[in-house]
Amino acid sequence: MNDSNAAVRVIGLSKQYAAGFRRTPVLALSDVTLDVGNNEIFGLLGPNGAGKTTLIKILLGSLLPTSGTAAVNGFGGGDWRSRLSAGYLPENHRFPPYLTGRQMLFCFGGMAGLSRNDIRGKVDSLFELVGLSQWQNTKIRKYSKGMMQRLGLAQALLNDPQLIFLDEPTDGVDPVGRHEIRTILLNLKKAGKTVFLNSHLLAEVEAVCDRVAILNKGKLIKVGPVSGLLDVKPAYHVETAGLDEAVALEVMNSFPTAKFEGTVITVTLEAPRQINDVIDMLRRRNVELVSVAPVKISLEESFLELIQGGGHHE
Ligand SMILES: Nc1ncnc2c1ncn2[C@@H]1O[C@H](COP(=O)(O)OP(=O)(O)O)[C@@H](O)[C@H]1O
Ligand SMILES: [Mg+2]
Repeated sequence: MNDSNAAVRVIGLSKQYAAGFRRTPVLALSDVTLDVGNNEIFGLLGPNGAGKTTLIKILLGSLLPTSGTAAVNGFGGGDWRSRLSAGYLPENHRFPPYLTGRQMLFCFGGMAGLSRNDIRGKVDSLFELVGLSQWQNTKIRKYSKGMMQRLGLAQALLNDPQLIFLDEPTDGVDPVGRHEIRTILLNLKKAGKTVFLNSHLLAEVEAVCDRVAILNKGKLIKVGPVSGLLDVKPAYHVETAGLDEAVALEVMNSFPTAKFEGTVITVTLEAPRQINDVIDMLRRRNVELVSVAPVKISLEESFLELIQGGGHHE
């Protein structure tokens, strides 16, 4: 083991693919550095093509990086122990539809080198954990997408790993199914596990993760606790009965972000209480106010703004 107790440690990681017949270089990861602590639920959030799956594959040692290092539980990506110490739910996995859920776990457990006795001792509690006890003898072909993902989770947990990688676990799953998966992840955390979750869905990581990293076009643009991740500055629309140029200039001098559209001023502030300063200034000039209303920006909008704004570091 390495002396740090990070569950995942990535330093200066880059990956360049050679795509297609012409071997066009595609930079899927560019100088990514991040740590995931034990017992965290960590979300790697980014739009499709950001490089999330590439990062997990490098961590699991199934893909070599172009440069940089990646370690899982202190074992480097090329070390077979890194693969054994982690569970993995790949994206878009397909299970044989003609097997029952129970047969599937025996099949995958066998491939992972577990004895039938070993597996027998685990399956019931795993089915219970993922809420599929009643369905374990039903053929997978009858499973919904959400049930399939929960079966995938049980598969990822067969080895009793301390760390679990989940790649888009709720993609294509309906809201009820999503909620069930979320509950399972929170239970895994309670049981002391570390979860590394890839997702392109902001709402998903927001609901379940302790910390989130935003990845866009291979670059990490932000890492931090979910709460402070998308710190949206307060903005207000101030509708007046009429504005003259002198007042507008004065407002602009004190609040350079102010925008004017007819009789409406839109200001973005550092703190909500500053709206009082704007109002005081206008009232001193005898400007008549019609309404003052906060501008609501959803997390989704600010996330989109962040990733469309390009890859600045913070
Ligand atoms: N085997 C590959 N060969 C060439 N390019 C690839 C390969 N796998 C992924 N890519 C490219 O690398 C980028 C990142 O892909 P991926 O890691 O799958 O992103 P994500 O999981 O965030 O959707 C994309 O531009 C994708 O087209
Ligand atoms: Mg992916």
